[in-house]
Amino acid sequence: MNDRPDAGLPARAAALDLLAAALSRRSGLDEAFSTPSVRALDPRDRAFARALVMAALRRLGPIDRALEARLQRAPPDSVRNILRLGAAQAFLLEVPAFAAVATSVDLAAARKETRPFKGLVNAVLRALLREPPPLDAPEALAPEWLYARWRAAYGEAQAREIAAKIPEEPATDLSLKDPADAPAMAQALEAEILPGGTLRTARRGDVATWPGYDEGRWWVQDASAAVPARLLDLKPGETALDLCAAPGGKTLQLAAAGAAVTALDRSAGRLTRVIENLKRMGLTAEVVAADAAAWDDERLFDAVLLDAPCSATGTFRRHPDVLWAAKVADVASLAAVQSRLLDAAARRVRPGGRLVYCVCALEPEEGEAQVEAFLARTPDVVLRAIAPGEGGAPEASLTARGTLRILPHHRPGGTDGFFVARFERRA
Ligand SMILES: C[S@@+](CC[C@H](N)C(=O)[O-])C[C@H]1O[C@@H](n2cnc3c(N)ncnc32)[C@H](O)[C@@H]1O
Repeated sequence: MNDRPDAGLPARAAALDLLAAALSRRSGLDEAFSTPSVRALDPRDRAFARALVMAALRRLGPIDRALEARLQRAPPDSVRNILRLGAAQAFLLEVPAFAAVATSVDLAAARKETRPFKGLVNAVLRALLREPPPLDAPEALAPEWLYARWRAAYGEAQAREIAAKIPEEPATDLSLKDPADAPAMAQALEAEILPGGTLRTARRGDVATWPGYDEGRWWVQDASAAVPARLLDLKPGETALDLCAAPGGKTLQLAAAGAAVTALDRSAGRLTRVIENLKRMGLTAEVVAADAAAWDDERLFDAVLLDAPCSATGTFRRHPDVLWAAKVADVASLAAVQSRLLDAAARRVRPGGRLVYCVCALEPEEGEAQVEAFLARTPDVVLRAIAPGEGGAPEASLTARGTLRILPHHRPGGTDGFFVARFERRA
């Protein structure tokens, strides 16, 4: 994994800033990757910093348990982060133990607030390296509160299977503009064709250099994320509204199916990604910056997709920081937002039209509980059960109610966690 064992202090200092950002707030890691100081790094240093932070985040639970056992009192967060990165270098990247310790001590020495803890960093890391801790116990891989929720929702065995996916580096999944392109693109990208038509490739590196990117033949989209739009089963010429559209993966699917698409999102900044993506793919949609709950427009649509803002705990394979930045209070506040948006979405569906609701969260308050409360308060909407395998969903994810609860271990090689439900407005 590490092609730069000789990476120096700048790479490690960047990793320290990235880790602090990842743990401080939701989306902190993505924002930190685009800060000028990280972008200015030598590309190989940047790759090392990224690999180091991702390795630390994917094993943060076990690393923290091992550190806890060797710390008599809590050090400042910046010191704890240096220790976490030191452990990740020694145990998870191919950095020789002596170099992991020495560079961690140098990192502590380089900043005023961590300088007094140089000796502690040295002693704790040396002690840790003498007795390498277990790093793969599933119940240690997620934050305790999240693991306890998964156990309560899905049982001990499934909670362990979910958590066992946390350390795995995922393959890259692609959606095709034209499904007929699958055999040719699969060959060009050394990809497997998954049920539903997603291509899965083990390729690494900059996707913009891969065959078919410049010609707009595919876009990056997790296999689970591609399922909800397929369940709308759009026919060319139908109208479709994507209510939380940015960065646009599902908008592209709706447009590629031949629908007249309106892509709406509250964030004008994020909508620029939708516009760029549509342009590269040679597809069109009406793009609207508005709050979905307050959008001043009277039109009704054949199909409405609500990919609501959520705790995103199902996306930990690509974004392990979500596990550590999420807070239990977020689940309740996001569930309240989702129910407001569901009401707004239902008002946009023409009589007889379809509505798909989805979230990339593993928490029942953001899925099953939303559906039941929505049906109870919305008499003109009914649940339209999803059939086994429909949309390329793993069969294990189909619930008795006809909704989808896709768990990360439901596909060989893993898949993002998603909840999906389909409704119809009575004619
Ligand atoms: C899960 S992301 C959508 C991902 C997107 N559907 C895709 O497939 O690429 C949720 C989006 O909801 C948007 N959002 C949050 N609250 C909103 C609101 N009240 N109205 C409209 N969009 C909102 C956020 O800006 C964010 O882009």
